[in-house]
Amino acid sequence: MLDAWLRTTVYCQLPYVGMNLKAGRRSVTSPSKICRLGVLISGRGSNMVALADAVEQGRIPGAEIALVISDQRRAAGLGRAAERGLKTSVIERGDRTREEHEQEIVAALSEGQIDLVCLAGYMRLLSRHALDTYRGRILNIHPSLLPAFPGLAAQQQALDHGAKWSGCTVHFVDETLDGGPIIAQSIVPVLDDDSEETLSARILGQEHLLYAEAVALIVSGEYEVAGRRVLNKR
Ligand code: GRF
Repeated sequence: MLDAWLRTTVYCQLPYVGMNLKAGRRSVTSPSKICRLGVLISGRGSNMVALADAVEQGRIPGAEIALVISDQRRAAGLGRAAERGLKTSVIERGDRTREEHEQEIVAALSEGQIDLVCLAGYMRLLSRHALDTYRGRILNIHPSLLPAFPGLAAQQQALDHGAKWSGCTVHFVDETLDGGPIIAQSIVPVLDDDSEETLSARILGQEHLLYAEAVALIVSGEYEVAGRRVLNKR
C-alpha cells in the first residue's frame, strides 16, 4: 500500500496534502507524467461525463480518467463511463461495515495508481482510512455556495431559506461535511418561479464547467493553500 502511494505521488505531485501543510507553490514534477484521476459516483454521473469531456478536449492538461468506481451496481453513470471507454468498477457495500467497504475502494484506487480522487455525486461520507490515504487529494462538488446548505438536498435548502443566489462549490474533502477548503465557486440566481428541478438544472450546468476548471487547477499544481484559503496562482 505504501509502495503504491509513493509511486503515485511521484507521478503527480499535488501541493495540498493536509490542513497543516505550510502554504507553498509547487508544480507537477514533469509534464510527461500524467495525473491519474479516479472518479467516484453513485448515480447518473453527469459530472463524471463532464470531466471526461474536459479531459478529451484538453481542458485538463496532463490528466486522464484512469478509473470510475460506483458503489451502486445500477448507477446510470457506469454505462456512460463504459461508452467512453473508461475503466469502471462496481464496489458495493453489501453486508460489510463501512470500513470494510471503504478499504476495498481505497485498495482499488491504489492498485489503479490514482493520484487524485474526484467525488462526483458519490453519496457516502468517507472515513479516516480514505482521508488519510488520499489526504489533500480528494475533491468534491456540491450544489450550493458553501458554507451555506451543506448535506443533502442543497438546492431545496436554498429555496426553503429564500436565498436569492445559489451555485456550486468544488472543495477539498476533509473530515467535515462539505466543509473542506474551497477551491472554486460559481453563482446562479434563484428565480421567483424556480422549483427544485429548475434550480438544480441551472446549478448543474455550472457544475459541469466548474469541476473541470477546478480539477485543472489542482492538476497544474499552480495554487497555494494558506489556512483555509486556496489561492489560484495561475
Ligand atoms: C450533483 O449535483 C453534485 O453537485 C452532487 O450530486 C449531484 C451529482 O450529479 N454532489 P451527477 O451524478 O454528477 O449527475
